[in-house]
Amino acid sequence: MLGARPFHAQRYSRGAIFFHWTIAVLVLVNLWIGLVGGSMGVHKAVGITVLVLTAGRIVWRIANPPPPLPATVAGWERLAATWTHRLFYLLLIVLPISGWAMVSGAQRRPLDWFGLFPIPYLPIPPAVAGAGHEVHEPVGLLMAGLVALHIGAALRHQFLLRDGIASRMLPGGQRGR
Ligand code: HEM
Ligand code: HEM
Repeated sequence: MLGARPFHAQRYSRGAIFFHWTIAVLVLVNLWIGLVGGSMGVHKAVGITVLVLTAGRIVWRIANPPPPLPATVAGWERLAATWTHRLFYLLLIVLPISGWAMVSGAQRRPLDWFGLFPIPYLPIPPAVAGAGHEVHEPVGLLMAGLVALHIGAALRHQFLLRDGIASRMLPGGQRGR
């Protein structure tokens, strides 16, 4: 393979893959609890975990920029991918913070991280907590829609286009860092 462009140069870094799949699983768990049902204590702890991991993920992304898309990807697809990913990052911050704000209102319910330690409430007036409530539901639905779009795009690349885009984010194989 001397002279060939190393495959790993076109892949996401180990860290990016770790953050992507950990956060993806946690977001799916929270969408399920929010929309279908389950423990709200788990929902809150998982949501705060997503917020902390997203902060780490953004720092990691700045230090380890994603691999450039191959030239075969059309202009509209680049644009769609860029804006979907930007919106994801925004929602990964707004959604947990709005949830956190919502439970930091006047009528405080217990808030802890899987029963291990308490999570402090946000020092905000009740009106801001109310706004958090107003924001959390529509933004949660937007997140669900975006995840469906994103999974559809990944499956299209994997099974219809077969252009190797989806495997850039799959664990396994050789890659940098
Ligand atoms: C990845 C992060 C999160 C996602 C994807 C998410 C998603 C959702 C969704 C889809 C709902 C249902 C909305 C509805 O139909 O009313 C919901 C409800 C709720 N979420 Fe989250 N959430 C996240 C983080 C949080 C956090 C960090 C907290 C609090 C610390 C929180 C507290 C709540 C509460 C209390 C409800 C119930 C609201 C109600 O019954 O009116 N969420 N969440
Ligand atoms: C459920 C929550 C998910 C969220 C919030 C999410 C979020 C993201 C974000 C923000 C990126 C851009 C990474 C960057 O450039 O920094 C990304 C990339 C990617 N995601 Fe997801 N993702 C989720 C689930 C999934 C699932 C279930 C699949 C597979 C079916 C998937 C496949 C991919 C692939 C293949 C890429 C790389 C795209 C490329 O090479 O440009 N994601 N995801």
